[in-house]
Amino acid sequence: MNEQTHVTHVVVPGTFDPVTFGHIDVIMRAHRLFPLVTVAVAASPGKNGTARTFSLDERVELIRASLEEAGMPDGIDVQPFSGLLMDFCREVGAGGVVKGLRAMTDFEYELQQADLNYRLSPGVESIFVMGSPEFGYVSSSIVRELAALGSDVDFLVPKPVAQALRRRFG
Ligand code: PNS
Repeated sequence: MNEQTHVTHVVVPGTFDPVTFGHIDVIMRAHRLFPLVTVAVAASPGKNGTARTFSLDERVELIRASLEEAGMPDGIDVQPFSGLLMDFCREVGAGGVVKGLRAMTDFEYELQQADLNYRLSPGVESIFVMGSPEFGYVSSSIVRELAALGSDVDFLVPKPVAQALRRRFG
């Protein structure tokens, strides 16, 4: 159990392939609640070992560029990580993990991860924020699918990401 210390630093983890307006919303909400937010970009390969659309470095850079476009408030930084999320939280000294919930379909997966993370590191709080309803349907996989099929995705992702997707998919 955490010794009743206040949490001031949280991690917002994810794959961010690529970052969407939904992610930016969650990062900004986390920053309203906590002064220090580290956006942790997972190096993990895609499902079944498939390649990511963007490399780890590209995903980190796209988040930085998107946050800068949104005015990058002080107290937010972006870092890559590999290995266990709980190890990363310990390394950066974060007392909590903030994630967004869109729908009930997110809940079961997130509860499983939160339970596991609690077993690994009971002092790190799992905190959930409700995403804005306007972004409820936005996901990185939807963005990738639309972009690959030639659809405009400017309404789903920050400008730097839309440009990168155009370069990637033409
Ligand atoms: O954006 P995603 O793909 O939903 O993010 C999932 C992520 C990266 C947060 C999760 O897979 C993760 O924490 N990976 C690090 C490895 C780890 O700690 N696994 C055990 C906790 S489930």
